[in-house]
Amino acid sequence: MHVSKVTDGVYQLSINIENMLFEGLWEVPNGVSMNSYIIKGEKTAIIDGVCGWDGVPEHFFGLLKELDIEPESIEYVILNHMEPDHTGWIEDLKKIHNNFKVICTKKGAPLLEAFFNHTENIMVVGDGDTLDLGGHVLEFAEIPNVHWPDTMATFDHNTGTLFSCDAFGSYGRVDHGNYDDMLSEEDLKWYEEEAVRYYANIVAAFSMFVDKAITKCAGLPIKIIAPGHGVVWRKDPMRIVEDYKRYVAYQKGPAMKEITVLWGSMYGMTEKGVNKVVELLEKEEDIKVNVHELPQTSWGQILKSVWTSTGVVLAMPTYEYKMFPPMAAALEELGKKKAVNRLAFRIGSYGWSGGAQKELDHIMEQQKMNWSFIDPVEYKGAPTKDDLVKIEAGVKALVEAVREAVK
Ligand code: FEO
Repeated sequence: MHVSKVTDGVYQLSINIENMLFEGLWEVPNGVSMNSYIIKGEKTAIIDGVCGWDGVPEHFFGLLKELDIEPESIEYVILNHMEPDHTGWIEDLKKIHNNFKVICTKKGAPLLEAFFNHTENIMVVGDGDTLDLGGHVLEFAEIPNVHWPDTMATFDHNTGTLFSCDAFGSYGRVDHGNYDDMLSEEDLKWYEEEAVRYYANIVAAFSMFVDKAITKCAGLPIKIIAPGHGVVWRKDPMRIVEDYKRYVAYQKGPAMKEITVLWGSMYGMTEKGVNKVVELLEKEEDIKVNVHELPQTSWGQILKSVWTSTGVVLAMPTYEYKMFPPMAAALEELGKKKAVNRLAFRIGSYGWSGGAQKELDHIMEQQKMNWSFIDPVEYKGAPTKDDLVKIEAGVKALVEAVREAVK
């Protein structure tokens, strides 16, 4: 855990979390930072918290003392949202000092009671409400469902800092270079890859609300964006805003000039077809190809690749009259995240009878995914020469459709 200065009177306390599943579900192979912010005016406020480090609260209070802040002087705890990754520490804070006011939205208050039985000293705020800390006037903006229903952003008028909660966040551990002005272009590109995976995993399903939040925040004179996870954007805050606008737009497609191949195979027969698909796609130099085998690839990575891809190849066998189960599960998750309007092509092997296609049609309809499919190529056992010719035609048709969609 480390402390750093964001700007005058604003400090960040941050910790990297690794070797865990975020939300108990998402792999974070490059870690994720938990960011919390202290605003020191005549009065002191903390925005969001961090949890999951050893030595709570001793370590936390030690760091506050580095900033000449006595823990007892924290008057306001601002909950941009109630998710426990940012609020789990409140119980520890209460053991030392119980004289602070919690600031949250109307929807945050009952969540605070349900999760932590905390019902006193709560100030409910809404759009446009302000809090004067003396030297820092904070304004609140509700941005519901980015990512919890109670989510808000907090804007410090004196420094132009937007504490944006999950909006504009990213995965990826941050150390002492956790500000965009301290990172190389190569590092920034790396974090942008982490950002789109974070987006696809955590807020993709709420893209419509992210869009509204971007519009609402655009009215503020933002100089710095300080999210709950990832890099703080101090030099070029609009860069991550533009990234997020693109991520929102990818939802409905077209996305990028990319094709993702999702495949699973039981005994290598579907894999023979996949090999042909990949061999053909790799010749298309202007198209990025992502290939993921199921169930070996994490859902987090699959969601990210499909989110940024305009085209998808699905290759899976029939399994006991239905679709290969890991593919069915992945497609349902893609549907729940609302990755709609993709261009797609499906191949696959069967033994006793078909069945995968029927389940695919069902998932597409049930999840309202509206993917546009080229005619599938299904084969009994191993693909024949004729099947491989049909696969080649399907791949070419998909490539042309992707090129046409993104041009
Ligand atoms: Fe850091 Fe919605 O969480």
